[in-house]
Amino acid sequence: MENRRNFVKAGGMLGTALLATPVWGGVAGTEGGSTPGKENSYPLKTKTRRLGSGNHSMEVSPLGLGCMGMSYHRSFIPDRKTMIAFLRKAPELGVNLFDTAEAYGPLVNEELVGEALAPIRKEVMIATKFGFKEGKPALGLDSRPERIKQVVDHSLKSLRTDYIDLLYQHRVDPKVPMEDVAGTVKDLIKAGKVKHFGLSEAGVENIRKAHAVQPVTALQSEYSLMTRQPENDVIKACEELGIGFVPYSPLSGGLLTGYINERTKYISSNDNRASLPRYQPEALIANWPLIDILKEFGDHRGLTVAQVALAWLLAQKPFIVPVPGTTKPAHLQENMGAAEYVFTGDELSKLTADLNKVKIVGERYTGQSAEQTRK
Ligand SMILES: NC(=O)c1ccc[n+]([C@@H]2O[C@H](COP(=O)([O-])OP(=O)(O)OC[C@H]3O[C@@H](n4cnc5c(N)ncnc54)[C@H](OP(=O)(O)O)[C@@H]3O)[C@@H](O)[C@H]2O)c1
Repeated sequence: MENRRNFVKAGGMLGTALLATPVWGGVAGTEGGSTPGKENSYPLKTKTRRLGSGNHSMEVSPLGLGCMGMSYHRSFIPDRKTMIAFLRKAPELGVNLFDTAEAYGPLVNEELVGEALAPIRKEVMIATKFGFKEGKPALGLDSRPERIKQVVDHSLKSLRTDYIDLLYQHRVDPKVPMEDVAGTVKDLIKAGKVKHFGLSEAGVENIRKAHAVQPVTALQSEYSLMTRQPENDVIKACEELGIGFVPYSPLSGGLLTGYINERTKYISSNDNRASLPRYQPEALIANWPLIDILKEFGDHRGLTVAQVALAWLLAQKPFIVPVPGTTKPAHLQENMGAAEYVFTGDELSKLTADLNKVKIVGERYTGQSAEQTRK
């Protein structure tokens, strides 16, 4: 055990050396952070961010790690042992917030994350989600109080832990009053099984209803340069209420990296992108000017397309903590590097104005998935 700790410590220092150097013209750090490494024995390289307010807040790394793609919806499923080693290494690369859900698999993603993080449980924060019948999105929604309690007990087992740091309702269930959902999570918090409450894809009205019963720590909704709608309402509501905002699919499922093009193939049995409008060849070609702008900006500043896309999100508000998903240490290191970049005011305005000129083609969801968002 002691040997492992020393190894982890040494690895952590190596990671720090790799990433702490301010390689971008001396501008390091992000706006609105606090002292690194305070609540975590891993020395976080970048300033931390705060989700939520007061007693209901969490101090987290500036970006979390989306774990869904390690088992679900991203075509290939990488070798399990390799993913376990990767998840254990992730804190050395600066991340302490891990995002999973009952629905990813279902169940298998929580089991993977649980097994991987068990030896370092105290050093990391785990977010998971409830809200679908039998954990299967295709079967519809289920946020009945008895079901929430059942899911949490099962998630605790899968995650090999006795508390969940952040428990999200995955989608608003119109059949269950939001007050009842929030009341159930409040009871789970009192029982010590859950530390913080979150919502995903909820609209302003439901955010307010939930927050009145049990303060909400974070809203997790899709937000990226391809999906800007949260700017219209929910981000403003989060700011007003002191709720953190966690953009999911912040790279638009990989589109905002430049690695996906009209020739990209998906394994449709395990990838929702295969049928979503935004990933079809015509949309990819129509939206490519966005990649050109990000690449042009990044090329002059030693940044990749993905880093500019993530740095842009981080620059919008200090309470924004994106959770890009990756299965590769090199991509995680790259993505965490985005938090080191600080835009000048002029740079950000010019980049945003250029990006605003691109009219995005292709919806992000269709059918039942689209109906369940922003409720
Ligand atoms: N609340 C919700 O309803 C909801 C819905 C969807 C997702 N989520 C959460 O959000 C997380 C991320 O979402 P997402 O996977 O849909 O989209 P994403 O983070 O926008 O994109 C992930 C994709 O981009 C690739 N990628 C990541 N970094 C890269 C880099 N630096 N260079 C090149 N490619 C890169 C990944 O492939 P590699 O593995 O090859 O890096 C993966 O295919 C999920 O894991 C999940 O935790 C939540």
